[in-house]
Amino acid sequence: MVHKKIKVSPSILSADFSKLSWELERLNHSDADMVHVDVMDGHFVPNLTFGPPLIKSIRKYSKLPFDVHLMISPVEIYIKNYADAGADIISFHPEATHNIEKTIKVIKDCKKKVGVAINPKTSLNTILPVLNQIDQVIIMSVNPGFAGQKFMPEVLPKMSELRKIINEKKLKTEIEIDGGIDFDNARDAIQAGADILVSGTTIFNSSNFNDSIKKLSSF
Ligand code: DX5
Ligand code: ZN
Repeated sequence: MVHKKIKVSPSILSADFSKLSWELERLNHSDADMVHVDVMDGHFVPNLTFGPPLIKSIRKYSKLPFDVHLMISPVEIYIKNYADAGADIISFHPEATHNIEKTIKVIKDCKKKVGVAINPKTSLNTILPVLNQIDQVIIMSVNPGFAGQKFMPEVLPKMSELRKIINEKKLKTEIEIDGGIDFDNARDAIQAGADILVSGTTIFNSSNFNDSIKKLSSF
């Protein structure tokens, strides 16, 4: 089997908010592949983070793609704002829209990559009919809302199943795993089929930031 390059998407939810430009500049000089931006509205999830004006103001400090994870409902009416603010990949949760296909189209019309995020309790069936239209599936390995939660290994069989379907259909859709990733579970996540690891706490709370990024992608 060819050893694939595992991508790492550090979540700036765990960065120092008082120095976001500096955090993004150090990510530019690291082995990170993109920047995961967790947008929460205090309604779809019980936490509130940042919106388009903040993303727009920090965008110029980063050379990496912005992997924007929208945990907001309703979502569709705000997509253009995030696209204009500098998102490159826009992911949403199926529960936040009445029409998944239409939301995908809105993102595509903005010429952005499309991601769909599925919660630990959400079935794969929710996304299978649209799998060939999406660039990335986020498998949530925590219930969304907060950084620093414990990884839920029970989502791994769902991810293996998705990997199998993507391979069988020869799709280019990538699988990102998000929540509680650390040095003890990254290997299991990769073996179950992850292409991209999101990590907040493990990267930003470590004493050597880039060593942690490299270590995560090398399992
Ligand atoms: C959870 C967010 C995650 C989170 C990851 O709702 O979607 O992206 O920031 O942080 P850690 O790696 O600390 O679980
Ligand atoms: Zn996230």
